[in-house]
Amino acid sequence: MRILVVGSGGREHALCWAIAASPLVTELFCAPGNAGIAREATCVPVSADDQEGILALCRDRAIDFVVVGPEAPLVAGLVDRLNGAGIKAFGPTAAAAVLEGSKAYTKDFCARHSIPTAAYGRFTDAEAAKTYIRTQGAPIVVKADGLAAGKGVIMAETVEQALDAVDAIMADRAFGEAGAEVVVEEWMIGEEASFFALTDGEAILPLAGAQDHKRVGDGDTGPNTGGMGAYSPAPVVDDAMSKRILDEIIAPTVAGMAAEGRTFRGVLFAGLMITETGPKLIEYNVRFGDPECQALMLRVKGDFLSALIATADGQIGHFQLRWHDETALCVVMAANGYPGTYEKNTVVAGVDSVETDDVVVFHAGTARGTDGDLLATGGRVLGVTAVGKDAEEARRRAYAAVDAIDWPGGFCRRDIGARAIGR
Ligand code: AMP
Ligand code: GLY
Repeated sequence: MRILVVGSGGREHALCWAIAASPLVTELFCAPGNAGIAREATCVPVSADDQEGILALCRDRAIDFVVVGPEAPLVAGLVDRLNGAGIKAFGPTAAAAVLEGSKAYTKDFCARHSIPTAAYGRFTDAEAAKTYIRTQGAPIVVKADGLAAGKGVIMAETVEQALDAVDAIMADRAFGEAGAEVVVEEWMIGEEASFFALTDGEAILPLAGAQDHKRVGDGDTGPNTGGMGAYSPAPVVDDAMSKRILDEIIAPTVAGMAAEGRTFRGVLFAGLMITETGPKLIEYNVRFGDPECQALMLRVKGDFLSALIATADGQIGHFQLRWHDETALCVVMAANGYPGTYEKNTVVAGVDSVETDDVVVFHAGTARGTDGDLLATGGRVLGVTAVGKDAEEARRRAYAAVDAIDWPGGFCRRDIGARAIGR
């Protein structure tokens, strides 16, 4: 089969790496890809947000199956367009991608289907939001409704901070049009986890749990990022907890979406708070996590592409996927200054020589210079990912590889996996 992966991040590199190993693949393309993805796939310079360009590419290259990596094209309806043109694709339609595209929709959906989540109010009027905040008190969480690249969430420790957050989001439009509506939520206490499941709209194939590290600094300090590292499995998501997550959150979501005429086909990524009383949904994403996907792909045994095709074909109920028991752990190396402004086009050296049977380096923001140098072109640049018999061994291998990469222009957190190791 001729396969196209859409996107250019570490997640898409991990997907291409897994898909390239499938016996079904005759040729693999990625749009637009990056310097690391170019090892696995033919990269074509078409933006993930260019629907016309992607459609033309599918026709020119006779693509049989498209895997859409990021959320923006899903929310914008790329899968609807592809399906409309008779091209099979992995990922939800725009109607189903609303689970990530609108936090307010998702909160109301959870209320309609008794899915456990933080108590909330949603507001298009700033004064009404402020009145709600004053009655609830602090600490409290204020969120812009729409897509804000993971940044539209303000954890307010005081009422004052929460009121300022409403102004920043609604009056100043700090997150652009995502701030036309705000959601104000109870601040939940517990340990965070990510849970992934493939669904064809009816049947569900649970994948695995993982843990992300969202803050930029060691010990969970500093601003939120797209994710500075991840590992899988996550000890907090044991078998009993997985069952509760499936029964209490994933299954009612899949059934609820189908009942509301928004059948969800693709990967459901539940961001969870594991509280004293059980799992509660923080948010849904409608695609794989980045960098969780990098860790997950190293644990998959067998043909992952077949699982993606079975999902799109409505056949996931018959599918079995096997997993390595080892822990996989990904350390993200980012450009100095990320998630603020950062320098571009610094040279990254020594990347290829750190890879072993147990270590794979997934690329995110990279490109080749004219002289063949590897250049850092994005905020998150590399995902150094290792497997080991436990989190400790995976962590040792990942950091040994990180330390052998010569990149003065970059940094990483030094404590990825600490929660799994310290338990
Ligand atoms: P989100 O973009 O909704 O995933 O939120 C980003 C981060 O903010 C999450 O990973 C949590 O660490 C935190 N967060 C969001 N909502 C809540 C909440 N209601 N209670 C506690 N933490 C939250
Ligand atoms: N790692 C979190 C995300 O992909 O949203």
